[in-house]
Amino acid sequence: LSPSPRPQMEEGVRPAPCRAKGGAPGFKVAVLGAAGGIGQPLSLLMKLNPLVSVLHLYDVVNTPGVTADVSHMDTTAVVRGFLGPNQLEAALTGMDLVIIPAGLPRKPGMTRDDLFNKNAGIVRSLCEGVAKCCPNAIVNLISNPVNSTVPIAAEVFKKAGTYDPKRLLGVTTLDVARANTFVAEVLGIDPKDVNVPVVGGHAGVTILPLLSQVHPPCSFTPDEISYLTKRIQNGGTEVVEAKAGAGSATLSMAFAAAKFGDACLRAMRGDAGVVECSYVASAVTELPFFATKVRLGRAGAEEVLPLGPLNDFERAGLEMAKKELMESIQKGIDFMNKDS
Ligand code: NAI
Repeated sequence: LSPSPRPQMEEGVRPAPCRAKGGAPGFKVAVLGAAGGIGQPLSLLMKLNPLVSVLHLYDVVNTPGVTADVSHMDTTAVVRGFLGPNQLEAALTGMDLVIIPAGLPRKPGMTRDDLFNKNAGIVRSLCEGVAKCCPNAIVNLISNPVNSTVPIAAEVFKKAGTYDPKRLLGVTTLDVARANTFVAEVLGIDPKDVNVPVVGGHAGVTILPLLSQVHPPCSFTPDEISYLTKRIQNGGTEVVEAKAGAGSATLSMAFAAAKFGDACLRAMRGDAGVVECSYVASAVTELPFFATKVRLGRAGAEEVLPLGPLNDFERAGLEMAKKELMESIQKGIDFMNKDS
């Protein structure tokens, strides 16, 4: 006697567990731009995260292939793919966390601001979808220029009446990862034991590592400070040039985004003491947006932490960063207000 066949389930429709493994809460996460250089490894890393019960992968190209591929990993999250603007609403409905790496990356010779014209519109349309379909989701925005795209997203949410500054976070974790790596190299210690606060924004001189506040406490020579500051500020360009036209940081960025996304999910679960650097609405300086350490909680960026004591070199860097940041923020706001 052969066993009677089990009813076949339609591919990709396994019902989502409402609790992830071990009784922990499971969260619904969407990656927008999931078929891209960052999006693919980020989707893989989020599929590995035990806090994720449902993973929605959205892009305007190639999501069926990426979804089929990632869905065969035997981890808890149920993976579903969504292709093109007609499926954006389905991709976003019910999501707790939306991670956005959609948009063009840099090529050699380009600044992040050169991406503005293309990526501003992409971020606007995706955030309009968030406002409509999952207005309470926490948004992790990766698309460059982050210094301008976060203000654009804030304006979209304001227009929709859904804006909560705590729920909009610009991802600057890669700057911190680079800073930790380069500082660890100089100190000759394991990068996992190093924590460098990186404040300001995410482009050139707006990336301001606070080398006077490195953990573990340590001191650097003036030459080391100059080398480290420049290398951290130019880390992205180092990768763009090494890739020679094939794009910008994708693997290290996916790693950084997965780390930041995991921190958001742990905080949403109720873990205490989750602190990460992020570019958020802030009253730390006179600028409306600024990256500093933030304490993450169930509602997102629950507390924006102060800059802490700066030395003369960092104070001078802060002035340069603020000047450029102000222009980038205004450019984002102007983009949103030009038609109204
Ligand atoms: P990529 O070109 O490899 O992938 C971008 C993906 O976005 C593509 O699959 C594309 O189809 C998709 N896309 C385009 N328009 C879309 C739309 N309207 N809706 C959904 N998806 C759309 O680029 P990559 O390397 O993955 O970079 C993505 C973005 O991340 C770039 O803007 C890049 O500058 C930025 N980035 C940010 C970093 C940060 O630290 N915040 C670091 C590195 C890159």
